[in-house]
Amino acid sequence: MRVIAIDGPAGSGKSTVARAVAKRLELRYLDTGAMYRAVVFAVLRNGEDPADHEFAARTARDIELDIGLDKVMVNGVDATIEIRGPEVTRAVSVVAANADVRRELVSRQREWTERNGGGVLEGRDIGTVVFPNAELKVYLTADPEERARRRAKEVTDLDYEAVAADIARRDAFDSGRKADPLTEAVDAVIIDTTGMSIDQVVDKIERLLAAATPSEGQA
Ligand code: DC
Repeated sequence: MRVIAIDGPAGSGKSTVARAVAKRLELRYLDTGAMYRAVVFAVLRNGEDPADHEFAARTARDIELDIGLDKVMVNGVDATIEIRGPEVTRAVSVVAANADVRRELVSRQREWTERNGGGVLEGRDIGTVVFPNAELKVYLTADPEERARRRAKEVTDLDYEAVAADIARRDAFDSGRKADPLTEAVDAVIIDTTGMSIDQVVDKIERLLAAATPSEGQA
């Protein structure tokens, strides 16, 4: 089973790169951040507080999730737009720090991968926790200013300063939490994508894979 792990902080280029790698390798792609966002969405729709540990954990266990390439369905409701909105984004770090939510979502991520015979998974803990034996682990970074610029382009209703402040807050929270903090796996290849185009990053990953995989007749 081929598993490629792509981790890194917000705005490091993970989603675009992971999608492109999946397409080139003809593997399925899973955005695990969308799963944490979906739990927040479901908690808020129930009028509950995302910081309520038990409620969030129960929601993660009961939630019906369909994370598609371009569409995210949560309990039968199209949540594609809302999971990227400011309300969910504000609350997602606290839910991602909930160890019971993590246990449930990690188990679903492993099941999804088994079911699909492998995949390209992007997140914060794929190489460290979900698939420590992945064929290739990539940790993407970029200067905080560049990451904020990229996100500000995606999120049209927020200005650069607001996005930069939000990214800094989430980075600190995601890296500082006890449960599976954002950190590079010891054997991850770190790629600083500052000033690199998507194609350059994807080409580099393809070269790394080729170098790691013996070609036919060589094995
Ligand atoms: O990649 P993103 O911005 O959609 O992720 C949303 C949040 O979920 C982010 O604050 C970190 C968290 N996350 C996580 O803790 N573990 C993952 N595997 C993926 C995302």
